[in-house]
Amino acid sequence: RTVYLNGDYLPEDEARVSIFDRGFLMADGVYEVTSVLGGKLVDFPGHARRLTRSLEALDMAVPLTEAALLEIHRELVARNALDDGLIYLQVTRGAPGDRDFIFPDPETTPLTVVLFTQAKPNLAESAEAERGLKVISIDDIRWGRRDIKTVQLLYPSMGKMMAKAAGADDAWMVEQGLVTEGTSNNAYIVKDGRIITRALSNDILHGITRAAVLRFAEEAQMKVEERSFSIDEAQAAEEAFITSASSFVTPVVQIDGVALGAGAPGPVAKRLRQIYIEESR
Ligand code: PDD
Repeated sequence: RTVYLNGDYLPEDEARVSIFDRGFLMADGVYEVTSVLGGKLVDFPGHARRLTRSLEALDMAVPLTEAALLEIHRELVARNALDDGLIYLQVTRGAPGDRDFIFPDPETTPLTVVLFTQAKPNLAESAEAERGLKVISIDDIRWGRRDIKTVQLLYPSMGKMMAKAAGADDAWMVEQGLVTEGTSNNAYIVKDGRIITRALSNDILHGITRAAVLRFAEEAQMKVEERSFSIDEAQAAEEAFITSASSFVTPVVQIDGVALGAGAPGPVAKRLRQIYIEESR
């Protein structure tokens, strides 16, 4: 693979970052994941805008204009002949010469910018989406600024391991009796044909796929309700699904061992998945 590091395109094994990088020592950094379908970037402007928002929330400068970022994304797609897959972008607060809790002076410590591609052949034809996901519920014990897309992913990673150990595919996190979101996706249920998903706040990531899917749902005259729901309410729902850049719209068919509706992907999730993929191609 050819990757991008601080202005250079390099073979992946030649890209090197300091051991003092604050991303490595303190998870002091933010990231984005943008999908690529048939060589085309999906929702790029939304990801670029959210990157700016995450950087500003952590007092980091925006190192590249949206146009420059787009150019790097396109260059990586071309250099790696990427058809279907993902582009991972990470910006960390750089590498001062030592470990210190205090932020380094940005004049002398430039940010570290890394991008790489991940090929996922036939990204839109997923067996998981055909079958539907099983999810378990776990406590949401993450910090209070989940709207900032930081690289602190230990708990989401542990959540996926808990799901795997339980024979499930993923976990939905619950706080004060209400679902916040999935480990790496936004969570939805369908009740009386209405699409229900938690409203935006600092409690969840403001999904770029979420924004697009809710817009497509409204354009298709589907009703959307932005409010919280419990696991009990979700288990009694007709359908459930998740959204993210890497999974688009993927049906959920089981929550904590309870099958939803017919126990198979439902019509609303299937239709939204189809619309989203068609609009993204
Ligand atoms: N995850 N919620 C969380 C906690 C996430 O990590 C993500 C994305 C989402 C969905 O956001 P979007 O639709 O913008 O991808 C919601 C990415 C895909 C990841 O960590 O790989």
